[in-house]
Amino acid sequence: MRRKLAAGNWKMNVTAGALSELVELAKQVNPGDAETLICPPSPLLYLACEKLRGTAIAIGAQDCHAEPSGAFTGDISAPMVADTGATYVILGHSERRDLHAEKDADVAAKTRAAWGAGLTAIICIGESGADREADKTLDIIATQLQGSVPDAATGENTVIAYEPIWAIGTGKTPTLDQIIEVHDFIRARLIERFGQQTADAIRLLYGGSVKPDNAAEIFTAENVDGALVGGASLKAADFAPIIKALTQA
Ligand code: 13P
Repeated sequence: MRRKLAAGNWKMNVTAGALSELVELAKQVNPGDAETLICPPSPLLYLACEKLRGTAIAIGAQDCHAEPSGAFTGDISAPMVADTGATYVILGHSERRDLHAEKDADVAAKTRAAWGAGLTAIICIGESGADREADKTLDIIATQLQGSVPDAATGENTVIAYEPIWAIGTGKTPTLDQIIEVHDFIRARLIERFGQQTADAIRLLYGGSVKPDNAAEIFTAENVDGALVGGASLKAADFAPIIKALTQA
């Protein structure tokens, strides 16, 4: 049985004042609920971990460097992330792939670095609108999966997030059938590559305009094990009902 995971990606949208939303969210999340994770900007990682100690909410980073240390001004390493108390890191988000030219091989290297520091990697993959229109979605997904997910992936060290780029921050979502098609495809590819037991343990999240009013339907898909949520994770009042819908799915 895969434990459901509701993950919030705060992107570059908050300062320390927003941690009050975390405290509020923590009041509404019980240990028996879906696993809940928030990924704040890196300057807030320590403080977020401190504020959430003893609660059911985990903290993750939004990126890390592939090297453990060195002359990389402005970057943060996986051991630094782990040192804050964070336990997850999002890698290969489409905004990193697009705006920072990260390639599949970079994402794989970062993933190995994350594992080396004891972090669980949330590896993001997803097609652009043009890819989907050209009927290339499954080809893109297969290529990204192969290139971004290293061979030593397990259910403990890896989560995969399917985020169609055209659905991120747009209010547009794929149809339930489209989500099911891609998630079933990812599961099948993982089974081919890692074998049934390992593949069955790897959680698959859907991301892209998940909101309180569409979450329950998305969570009916068998191979959707949770969500990676941007905008609707910023306020406890929006994220709590999504966590609840996932817990009840
Ligand atoms: P939105 O939920 O704001 O569409 O963002 C999705 C996302 O990019 C999460 O990583």
